Amino acid sequence: MRNMLHRDKLLEWIIIQAGMGAGVSDYNLARKSSIVGNGKVLGVVSGVALNEIMVRRLQNGDPSGKIRHALSKFPDQETAREIIDKYFIEGGKPSEKRYHSSPFPGFNQDSDRVLTLNKDLEKLIIAANFVEVFLAKEGHDNPIGINYLYKIQWPFLPSVYGAMLAGVDATLIGAGFPCRFSKVLDGFSVGESATIQIPVGETKETYFMKFDPKNIFENCPELDRPFFIGIEGNHLGAKAVPDADGYVGEKDIGGGHSAPCRSGELTSRGEPEYGPKDAMDLEKFSRILDKNEQANGYRQQFWRAGGYADKLKQAQEEGVVRVQGDVVIVQGAVGVQVGSLFEWCRQSGLSPELRERGLNIIMDETLDEIVDGKIVYRAVFKDPRVSTSGFPFNVLQVPETLSERSVYDARTRRCDLGYLAELYLDGDKINLRCPGEIKEVYINKKRGKIEDTIRRGCLCNSLITNLGLGSFGEMPLITQGSDLSSIRAVIKKHGRDYGVEEAIDYILNPY
Ligand SMILES: Cc1cc2nc3c(=O)[nH]c(=O)nc-3n(C[C@H](O)[C@H](O)[C@H](O)COP(=O)(O)O)c2cc1C
Repeated sequence: MRNMLHRDKLLEWIIIQAGMGAGVSDYNLARKSSIVGNGKVLGVVSGVALNEIMVRRLQNGDPSGKIRHALSKFPDQETAREIIDKYFIEGGKPSEKRYHSSPFPGFNQDSDRVLTLNKDLEKLIIAANFVEVFLAKEGHDNPIGINYLYKIQWPFLPSVYGAMLAGVDATLIGAGFPCRFSKVLDGFSVGESATIQIPVGETKETYFMKFDPKNIFENCPELDRPFFIGIEGNHLGAKAVPDADGYVGEKDIGGGHSAPCRSGELTSRGEPEYGPKDAMDLEKFSRILDKNEQANGYRQQFWRAGGYADKLKQAQEEGVVRVQGDVVIVQGAVGVQVGSLFEWCRQSGLSPELRERGLNIIMDETLDEIVDGKIVYRAVFKDPRVSTSGFPFNVLQVPETLSERSVYDARTRRCDLGYLAELYLDGDKINLRCPGEIKEVYINKKRGKIEDTIRRGCLCNSLITNLGLGSFGEMPLITQGSDLSSIRAVIKKHGRDYGVEEAIDYILNPY
């Protein structure tokens, strides 16, 4: 390892600008957050679907030249040239022409249930993650993180390696429990291979996804080992992932995916019925942190998220009790992770046209309801079905997006990107299937269950469409936290064209 981890560094990051997939927190947003924050803010790029996003940006002509510039710094120049030759279109593709997608993954299987991806796809994934982090870090010395969803397993390891090649400072991982991930980071920093467990089929048989950087680079460079921050729905995540350097404890009202509710019930409006058992129990969290400290030899830090844009002080004051010798101290959160307020900044990756349409809904106070004396923002619906990951997904109800029933019904099902697809055994081969694909194929050919297909959308295609990089026939779908108050406050003061400076200023001094 080139440098030892200095975990005190984590205490400086009082704001984490959340990783928002796919491409909402792109290099532009993360770089700006990090520069404005000047050491206090961890700007985070989303690591979701970067290979697809990069090849589409190249086919749009890479107008700023930044993607080609970053590729010119990629350690493997032969791969960089191959990518540009294959995908770059001078002046951009004609609008009526389809995008040429990144290859759909196939799996090589050797003995002992170990799976690998095709080498060309590995290279593309590494390069795309390198590009995003390189551009976010370029021209300043402030920290940059990358966020992955652990549910998206097949590109996971080469993605992390690509981000490390560009010197990423932190990896933040949500939607799953990446056990022993710190060992993966340690290994990659000295060019060792890594495997992660991957469940296959309905019986969830254990297979392993493997990536060996030595298959790609003859001489693997020594790399800095980034921090590992686990994003967890409540205290139990800290037990399931004991070796993280820290945690983001995320309430279910945040944007994006949430952990399923423990009751398994729906409210009368059809949203998951969360209860006290789903919440972060600070007393239990405190005991888990003590135990982890004994096992790891270091104290883990934490941040709060989910409607915390105006609660930095509260998060820092409200803490876990820690006994040091005879002294009892309260360890508050280092700070907060904020998503939605950054999503609507002018620097975010959302297409300007969709941003405008989304803000029309966010600012429409006639959609609010008062329930038990509190405002409930009905423009946001926590959809328990739309994500094929099986996790509830917070959706902003914007006309002419997939959140509208008629738009959803008119869409032709397909699975051509496969990030959220699951692995299953097809004879003796491992293949991908997605409950959002054509029902007959999923059920009859791939032996999926009919009940899993009901009201599933295609987040892969919709989220990429949100960026203005969509395939023909695909419609956007916007995710957003359930609390609109901070966004409205900032817009009322600074107007709709607010940016990262105003968002950070608000988090530091809410009004
Ligand atoms: C547009 C959007 C996309 C998101 N995508 C991801 C993601 O890809 N991975 C993840 O771990 N969390 C994701 N989140 C959750 C955020 O990382 C963050 O924890 C959450 O938004 C915090 O709550 P807030 O939106 O109320 O500030 C997303 C949030 C938003 C608003």
